[in-house]
Amino acid sequence: MEKKKKGSFSGQLGFVLAAAGSAVGVGNIWRFPYLVAKDGGGLFLLVYFALILTFGFTLLTSDIAIGRRTKQSAIKAYETMHRGWKFLGILTFLVPVLIMTYYAVIGGWITKYAVVYVTGQAKAAAEDGYFTSFITSPVSPVVFTLLFMAVTSFVVYNGVEKGIERVSRFLMPFLTLLIVIIAVYSLTLSHTTAEGDVRTGIEGFLVYITPNFEGLTVSKFMSILLDAMSQLFFSLSVSMGIMITYGSYVKKDVDLNRAVGQIEVFDTLIAFIAGAMIIPAVYVFSGVEGMSAGPGLMFVSLPKVFAKMGVAGVFVGAAFFIMAIFATLTSCISVLEAIVSNCMEIFHVGRKKVTLILTVIYLAASVIIALGYSIFYVEVTLPNGSVGQLLDIMDYISNSFMMPFICMLSTILIGWVVGPKWIIEEMETNGERFTRKHIYVVMIKYIAPIMMFVLFLQSTGLLNLFS
Ligand code: PHE
Repeated sequence: MEKKKKGSFSGQLGFVLAAAGSAVGVGNIWRFPYLVAKDGGGLFLLVYFALILTFGFTLLTSDIAIGRRTKQSAIKAYETMHRGWKFLGILTFLVPVLIMTYYAVIGGWITKYAVVYVTGQAKAAAEDGYFTSFITSPVSPVVFTLLFMAVTSFVVYNGVEKGIERVSRFLMPFLTLLIVIIAVYSLTLSHTTAEGDVRTGIEGFLVYITPNFEGLTVSKFMSILLDAMSQLFFSLSVSMGIMITYGSYVKKDVDLNRAVGQIEVFDTLIAFIAGAMIIPAVYVFSGVEGMSAGPGLMFVSLPKVFAKMGVAGVFVGAAFFIMAIFATLTSCISVLEAIVSNCMEIFHVGRKKVTLILTVIYLAASVIIALGYSIFYVEVTLPNGSVGQLLDIMDYISNSFMMPFICMLSTILIGWVVGPKWIIEEMETNGERFTRKHIYVVMIKYIAPIMMFVLFLQSTGLLNLFS
């Protein structure tokens, strides 16, 4: 059978930007700042940085090395590693399959807000109930979701170098610039409250980075640790086959050690700057109590903060949501690409055909999820106790349930079945030195499987059964 020609990134920079494009998403600009505010500021930062250098590095290295060594996507790659472990490839493949049903919906919401700000309706967006009335409408969210999905498909349709790499090369520097500008502006803010107190952006920044040990107990520390771990996992786009697919497009002469380091730094830096952008702004106008969980922060609290900035807020709001579109688009592209590449390998069909078929399927699926707050509204209590609609259910199955489970199995596969040497060889393929080799081996064999098991118990709510 004739083998379809496989695409590749032009070189190290193209790969790093595309992988960072996948990694930098709503997780960095919305979830990370919220978790820092909730989990003791600098304390969370310290825990997160320590985990990135050990745990995050191990998972990212594994995925990318698996991809480049096998030159295949998840399903085939796991089969190549070990015949009996193809099931793990299939499980991994199912994660982007599920995420894709709702990612474009979130992208659509962000696009809608960008349009609202650019067309000068910032005031309306800050009103109570605006977000709820938007997502419960049966038309507008669908239109924006379809638009976002179509753009994503168009990029993937154009291939690895001409589509994904080209878009990432343009969007990632632009995103970085925008986020830095907004963060600097945020630090210069100051506001006098009704009680006559003056709150400044710099104070907000100190709240952000100062470790808060008040009321810290062992169980509180454990919950911070688990929050940091699941955040890191989601943020680096690991254990869902995405980095395996992107790794499979990396040429053999690229130094993976440097590439992994750069992706780690990029992703963490953007998350840190996002915190420096959001936390001081929210602090100045609403106090730290203003930080809310979930979509509320991005779509409800921030528009109120922008409104309090006066005229400047219209521009800052527009810049923020445009930046968020870039972050979400490059992530969404990576999710679709992981599905496309697996399908190309299994069905031996070309990129264009696979992309078109998947686009039709996901346009339909996204519409259903987008209507999950109106026509298809449901209330389901999830095993971890929260009540969710369709989008939350998909998110729960893929992120809380499947990802830790898959990650645990793949650390066992690498650590104990195939052996870490298999990865190490790939990291040293051009005679490079895999400097963090020892940490890698200890992490992959012992620490990561145990941590993943605990995370799995916690995020599925099973841990509560024991305590
Ligand atoms: N890594 C992305 C973020 O930090 C999230 C993501 C999840 C991207 C799943 C792709 C797939 O927001």
